[in-house]
Amino acid sequence: ALLLTRATVWTHARLGDAGARVLSLHPDEDPYPDYERIRALGPVVTSRLGLRLTAAHRLCVEVLRDHTRFGTMPVSDLYPTDLGLRHDGAHAFVHPIEDSFLALNPPEHGRLRRLVAPLFGPRALRGHLPMIESVVAGHLDRVAESPRFDLIGEFAARVPIGVIAALLGVPESEREDFLRWGGVVAAALDGVRSPAQLRRMRAVLTQLAEFCAELVAHRGRHPGDDVVSLLVAATPDRPALARKDLFATVQLLLLAGFETTVNLIGNAVRLLLADERARRDFVSDPDSAEDLAEEVLRYQPPIHYTIRVTREPVELGGVPLPAATPLVVLLAAANRDPEVFAEPNRFQPDRANAREHLAFSSGAHYCLGAGLARLEGALALRALFQRLPGLRAAGPVRNRPSRNVRGPLVMPVAPR
Ligand code: HEM
Repeated sequence: ALLLTRATVWTHARLGDAGARVLSLHPDEDPYPDYERIRALGPVVTSRLGLRLTAAHRLCVEVLRDHTRFGTMPVSDLYPTDLGLRHDGAHAFVHPIEDSFLALNPPEHGRLRRLVAPLFGPRALRGHLPMIESVVAGHLDRVAESPRFDLIGEFAARVPIGVIAALLGVPESEREDFLRWGGVVAAALDGVRSPAQLRRMRAVLTQLAEFCAELVAHRGRHPGDDVVSLLVAATPDRPALARKDLFATVQLLLLAGFETTVNLIGNAVRLLLADERARRDFVSDPDSAEDLAEEVLRYQPPIHYTIRVTREPVELGGVPLPAATPLVVLLAAANRDPEVFAEPNRFQPDRANAREHLAFSSGAHYCLGAGLARLEGALALRALFQRLPGLRAAGPVRNRPSRNVRGPLVMPVAPR
């Protein structure tokens, strides 16, 4: 998910106010009418500043699966030139995720991904089921008796952090730091807009890097059955490069689930609280949690777009694109493409083909945590509505300050 740090910074710089005509700039605005406008304009649309976008499901899939013609964004494009950030030494600053496999192209990408992939496969997930259930139950216990609580800060954000921290063997005492760091990193997902924000971001990433170094050293000395111990064991006395890869991988895993699964849970609860019928159906059939989560991922995905760059001159949807052209792949728009989904603007949890959504991307970078996120999301939603079937909104929702990572940031609710 954090490829978007790089991608969104860049997009922000290039879209400017001209792009505002096609992509709504305010996070509180509904972006879907803009996506429809883009779709109506053609398969590949060029904004006035030359930014290419596609809303077509078919083309998004084509781009995401073709790693010969389309690659990830190069690191050097990380920062915009129009915010004065380069004068702050921004060019010397590289997000740790930039070294991770999320930013690599095949075949280098596969070498690192293969190392961790089994840890997130179906068999491993089955083994984690009791842990995830207990993380969910623990947080529910804490909120169920209060007359009012923030569904995001006190539940939806805590579950994914608790789970990934447990998987990686992060001690309980350090988890509060994670919530704070997550907030700073997340605010930057939509672009770094000021030198002050950049400084905050640097400070957090330095702490995170130090924390990772300690965690890796600790697990080297005291191996457990956690992911970090397995990674350390898989890279014994390799030279500096392997160490760099190891760090980048651990940081990617720590950060990737932060601002994504929280929005799956948050968006789902918001939809259910606003749709009495959908809520009644779900409360009377809690085992439909997986289908519900799937339709939420289609209808309101946590991540709205990703970016690829042409690696050679290509033709896409009949439109010629020179080499090195960035292309915004509008995952959220593809999820409402009427060529794939009947009545795409209707939220319909029993939809048969919701799984064709692109919320987890496609191709080599298909979300490694998809299975985990689905499981966490479904378990959290089922437990929440079984325990608190009368859950209701209890105040205004505040949205995340991002055009790409979409979901509620604060959502006051009352248990009954
Ligand atoms: C990649 C979305 C949860 C780990 C991605 C990508 C998307 C995404 C769209 C691909 C970006 C691209 O193609 O440019 C989501 C959503 C989530 C979620 C919507 C929750 C609902 C998680 C979780 C983890 C995770 C819980 C846990 C570790 C990763 C990793 C990658 C990735 C490691 C990089 C895969 C690669 O480059 O091969 N995610 N993610 N994600 N995600 Fe997730």
